[in-house]
Amino acid sequence: MRVAVLNGPNLNLLGTREPELYGTDRLADIERAVQARADELGVALDWTQTNHEGEFVELVQGLAGRADGALVNAAAFTHTSVAVRDALLAVDVPFVEVHLTNIFAREPARRRSLLADLAVGIVAGFGAHGYVLGMDALVTHLNRRGS
Ligand code: DQA
Repeated sequence: MRVAVLNGPNLNLLGTREPELYGTDRLADIERAVQARADELGVALDWTQTNHEGEFVELVQGLAGRADGALVNAAAFTHTSVAVRDALLAVDVPFVEVHLTNIFAREPARRRSLLADLAVGIVAGFGAHGYVLGMDALVTHLNRRGS
C-alpha cells in the first residue's frame, strides 16, 4: 500500500511557528513518527511539503496511479483553494484531511474547509499525533475497501 502525505504552506516552519498553537515538533519530527507507523503497517510513504498553490495542485494531480490514499494537510489552502478542491475531485484518490489544530474552534475564516466533504474523514485538534491517527484511519479504510 502506498500513502502520500501532502503538507501545505508554512508547515515547513513547524517547531518555531506559533508553538502555542501548533506545538514544538518540527515537520521532520512528524514525518519520522508517521514513517515509523507506516513501517509498522507495511505502508510505503511519500512525504512532501510546498508553500506554492500550483505545486500543491500538481502534487494532488500526481497522486493518480501513484498512491492508494493520502493524508492532506493543505494548511491555509484548505480554506481558500478551489484549485486544490478541483484537483482532489479530478484524481478521486481517498484522503484523510489532517489539521494540527481544531479548525472548527478557531477564527471564522478557518472554520470552513473547501476539502472536507471530499475527504474520507477529518482528524483535527490532536497536534502532531493527528498525522499518525490519520494514517491509522486511512489504512483501516483502504483495507476495508479492498476486502
Ligand atoms: C492548519 C490550520 C490552518 O488554518 C492553518 O492555515 C495552517 C495549519 C493546521 O494544521 O492546524 O497552516 O492546517
